[in-house]
Amino acid sequence: MTREAFPTVPTLPIATVLPVETDSSQLSPRAALPLSPFHEIQSEHVGTGGSSPDSAPLPSLGSSRFHFCPVSLLMSAASSTAAHSSDYTQLSQQLLQKLQNKQAIVGVVGLGYVGLPLANLFHQKGFRVVGFDIDQRKVDALLAGKSYIGHIPDSRVAELVADGRFIPTVDFSKMREIDTVSICVPTPLSDYRDPDLSFIESTGRALAPHLRRGHLVILESTTYPGTTEEVLRPILEQGSGLKAGVDFFLGYSPEREDPGNPNFSTSNIPKVVGGLDPESQAVSVALYSQAVPKVVGVSSMEVAEACKILENTYRAVNIALVNELKVVFDRMKLSIWEVIDAAKTKPFGFQAFYPGPGLGGHCIPIDPFYLTWLAKRYGLNTRFIELAGEVNTRMPRYVVEQVIEGLNQHRKSVRGSKIGIIGIAYKKDVDDPRESPAFEIIEELLHLGADISYHDPHVPTMPRMRKHQLRLSSEALTESWLSGLDCTLIVTDHSAVDWNLVARSSKLVVDPRNACGKVAGPRENIVN
Ligand SMILES: NC(=O)c1ccc[n+]([C@@H]2O[C@H](COP(=O)([O-])OP(=O)(O)OC[C@H]3O[C@@H](n4cnc5c(N)ncnc54)[C@H](O)[C@@H]3O)[C@@H](O)[C@H]2O)c1
Repeated sequence: MTREAFPTVPTLPIATVLPVETDSSQLSPRAALPLSPFHEIQSEHVGTGGSSPDSAPLPSLGSSRFHFCPVSLLMSAASSTAAHSSDYTQLSQQLLQKLQNKQAIVGVVGLGYVGLPLANLFHQKGFRVVGFDIDQRKVDALLAGKSYIGHIPDSRVAELVADGRFIPTVDFSKMREIDTVSICVPTPLSDYRDPDLSFIESTGRALAPHLRRGHLVILESTTYPGTTEEVLRPILEQGSGLKAGVDFFLGYSPEREDPGNPNFSTSNIPKVVGGLDPESQAVSVALYSQAVPKVVGVSSMEVAEACKILENTYRAVNIALVNELKVVFDRMKLSIWEVIDAAKTKPFGFQAFYPGPGLGGHCIPIDPFYLTWLAKRYGLNTRFIELAGEVNTRMPRYVVEQVIEGLNQHRKSVRGSKIGIIGIAYKKDVDDPRESPAFEIIEELLHLGADISYHDPHVPTMPRMRKHQLRLSSEALTESWLSGLDCTLIVTDHSAVDWNLVARSSKLVVDPRNACGKVAGPRENIVN
């Protein structure tokens, strides 16, 4: 993305209340937002054990389930703004009605790890769903009833397309037929570790010509505070000739998917929602209240954006802390694993984080740097985040050093040694290898002359790497493969792996995940 996209640093605090006599038709709707308290909306079925999410009625504008009162917000907005506002309020009421009746057609842009489960969820809740992607192969796979995401089986994709209530497409003109659109496209870092918002920008340009009055556009991609307002909004307005807060609704709601987590999925993770204005807020809250048991409304899109960055920065910093302690305790011959297990018996004030071979995935290694970049615009440095990044990015090299040292104990060098990697995915029980520390470790070991093979029950073939074009397929996890290795290196502690077999059959195990921590029997061959 270009810096020109951010011509000014906002000077108004996010929740500024403008004087009532100000003609807010001349102002940005964000600036005209009445100050609303932190508010939370919980669907009635929570804790009642009675009605199901599917039967839970939508919070209507006047519902007492809103801790804040959208009716009064809407009315105060309407009474203090120009004539178009009653029109806009009417549009919001129409959309609320359609959402309540499940007549609204829901759109999802970006059918990846986040978008496909979201589309699936809306479909499960009884909506008609249109899923947009630019990747024709994904659309073709879905139309053929094939899943490309581990935890969504082919049978579910086949159901999705079979009943005609889910249409995957690359045709953005179908946008006109839908009522709401949730954008779930990638937000990576550029080669210079700056935010790369090009996917959000191109999505905005693709949607804009098809935007119509009454549409609700919600950004879900993780990003820094201000993106929806400063980047997405102008693209949508310029390309459509419509105005957010007048003709269409705009909101931000971060995706909090935790792939591989057996306890939490899109359907039961609370949704944080911030709207451009009270109407946008009300329709955004109404949309997600139909899909998840708990929706947490916040006073602005920027608060919702910042909330996601806080969550991921919190993880990155705490993981860095234990990674640093791991290196220190290793030197002291103390087990970090035992220390953490002891510390977590404290019933308050401590949350356990675990060290590992380095960060992976699309969120924790990336998102904190969105904030770092933004802070620079305000003349500030985020030293905590930078330090955490420094500690975490050193961990793959630390693991390689453990391999070198372990082989040395066996009178071997890395050059010519057979090293078997267990786990290529970036985390336990997922099939997603993006940003996995496995690749940096493998590249380093290849550089040192190792002979690499791997086993990952979720990643049958190794994806392309930056510096190497290894065409490897996952080995079967057998005694003969393990015993033929000079070193087994555990990068990902998948539940499906027989760790007893790994510990028993390997000559040397380097285990930065403590996957073999519960293995019984002799442990002299395990370095963790
Ligand atoms: N994967 C996770 O666990 C996770 C968790 C929380 C938040 N997020 C955030 O959610 C967002 C999406 O992540 P993801 O993991 O689903 O990414 P992904 O790469 O799996 O999926 C993104 C999809 O968007 C499509 N796409 C790209 N540009 C497009 C465009 N202009 N129009 C339509 N489709 C387009 C791609 O083809 C791809 O199918 C990111 O901002 C990410 O940070 C991801």
